[in-house]
Amino acid sequence: MKRRSQHDSLIDLHEHAEPGEHTNPVPWLLWITVLSLTVWGASYFWLEMYLPGQGSAASTAAQSGAAKAPGPDGAQIFASRCAACHQATGSGLPGMFPPLAGSEWVNGDAHKLADILLLGIEGALSVKGESFSGTMPTFGGTLSDAEIAAVGSYVRLSFGNHAPALDASLVKTERDRLGHRATPWKGGAELKSAQ
Ligand code: HEC
Repeated sequence: MKRRSQHDSLIDLHEHAEPGEHTNPVPWLLWITVLSLTVWGASYFWLEMYLPGQGSAASTAAQSGAAKAPGPDGAQIFASRCAACHQATGSGLPGMFPPLAGSEWVNGDAHKLADILLLGIEGALSVKGESFSGTMPTFGGTLSDAEIAAVGSYVRLSFGNHAPALDASLVKTERDRLGHRATPWKGGAELKSAQ
């Protein structure tokens, strides 16, 4: 008899412990939080898209810090046109894509960098003591002087590089000088010998 009643009270306890409707307010609170975060996020993007510069103080500061005059975004061009091969970190891939980080071609004469971007390269090229023989695509036909300058400046100031920015007027000078040439540079030897 005694045992039986103990058993009953255990069942009682168990039933009291069942989660009931009392716990419902918690999910609701969570949903409200998620919903307000979504609305906040959406409005943030909307402000950034349609009222550039007014969306947030941070983006205004970043814009004025990165470049005084509005123009093409070098970081964005790099991400869409270069990172697939040279990697987002500019480290390249050994034996396949040369590094931009610490590269003598990136940090050296700005004219050569403009030349590389305008025509591309096909042939043997040494970068930081390592030999490559791949194909660097030409961007003269797809990117404007300002865009080449923006992405050139970006690589000269990223990945630990500290070279001066690449000027759009310099890119234009090189484009004019190369004239109608469309064939890529035949490796490092031709690039070095070219005026
Ligand atoms: C399809 C892959 C590919 C893409 C995309 C590409 N490159 Fe290259 N790039 C190469 C290869 C391969 C070489 C080496 C060419 C050779 O061996 O002759 C190279 C060489 C270079 C060099 C000279 C060597 C060095 O490492 O400094 C620079 C500078 C360069 N690329 C910058 C860029 C920039 C900036 C972009 C984007 C606008 C870009 N590349 C897009 C594959 C690519």
